[in-house]
Amino acid sequence: MKNTTQSENRQTIALNLENFVHEVLVVSPGRINLIGEHIDYNGGHVLPAAINKQIKIYFRRNNTRRCNVWSKNFDNGYSFSIDAIGISDVEWENYILGVVHYIDQIYPGAIQGFDCIVESALPMGSGLSSSAALECGIATGLNTLFSIGLTKDQIIHLSRDAEHNYVGTKCGIMDQFTVVRGQKDHLILLDCQNLDYRMIHADIAPYQLVLLNSNVSHNLASSEYNNRRADCEAALAIIQEKHPEYKYLVDVPKEVLMSFEEELTPTMFDRASYVIQENKRTLMAAEALEKGKFEEFGNLLWESHHGLRYNYQVSCEELDFMVDFAKTQKGVLGARMMGGGFGGCTINMVHKDVVPSYTDAISKAYKKQFGIDLSPIEVSISDGVEVKK
Ligand code: GLA
Repeated sequence: MKNTTQSENRQTIALNLENFVHEVLVVSPGRINLIGEHIDYNGGHVLPAAINKQIKIYFRRNNTRRCNVWSKNFDNGYSFSIDAIGISDVEWENYILGVVHYIDQIYPGAIQGFDCIVESALPMGSGLSSSAALECGIATGLNTLFSIGLTKDQIIHLSRDAEHNYVGTKCGIMDQFTVVRGQKDHLILLDCQNLDYRMIHADIAPYQLVLLNSNVSHNLASSEYNNRRADCEAALAIIQEKHPEYKYLVDVPKEVLMSFEEELTPTMFDRASYVIQENKRTLMAAEALEKGKFEEFGNLLWESHHGLRYNYQVSCEELDFMVDFAKTQKGVLGARMMGGGFGGCTINMVHKDVVPSYTDAISKAYKKQFGIDLSPIEVSISDGVEVKK
């Protein structure tokens, strides 16, 4: 990062999509995660998929060293010089600044100036990873616009680095991986230790996945996220003093963890128990889905939420209410909070015949309880980020 502060570098600009002649259009999806929450950064397995809720980003070159970015949703834009990139006080700007910075590090001079317009149909703060969609979309678009030659893996990793060091969330790799590698009608069973993955055909008829957006997004999300990661790293470091053979928390056998109950703080012990169990649940859930054992799969969703609520403590009152209510409803096989937590969506496995009556009943109960509208989000499983010229 350069010495010039971002506020010195930054200028306000405006672009208009109506008269914008683009050279490259990128469509970048959000993601769902069926199970395997908060275990990507602990070396575990996750089961995500890209969805048909997307961000569109229009690009054109401008033959300067400046980047001009306009967000249609925020009705706001800014401009910065590639030669003096730093962290901005405005959060969303950092997704773009970070990606440009890391591409410029890998291929200095490859990015020339550009104009771009971001138009999102992906709700923010709802656990659908609008951040990874934006990062990977920007990286993919610039890669095409300037024929840079970045590989998919480079795009995944540099987008994650932008999130870590510009946005400040020490996320895992699940979101960026899914946004880039998603495939229509397929779930990705991803081993976050080595990025080995297997595509699983998402055939769950007569059930449907229903997302319910709580429309709350508690501010804790980023700081508490980093705290959870730190708790897990601290627990692993203590275990590794005696057992250096365990490189990741998910590798620690349950019996070994039990023998550390006295040495770990109660919080560390709870976090580690959750992580070890959730990784097992994810593998069991993938197998259950492939064998069509949907009830078994649904039960694993309830268990996952229970762990996220009590052991990992990343849920909130609103999400807990939604999952408790879901448990009382016929035709709902399982539900849990999805994504980083502290708000956002629940993911529900619901028999297709009861989807309308279920969403209606839960919306009414939620409104009565919190005075907030619940937003059902219909999604289908789609391809990862795509370039449309
Ligand atoms: C966020 C992060 C991911 C993952 C999830 C929780 O979406 O970006 O890396 O840790 O939370 O599973």
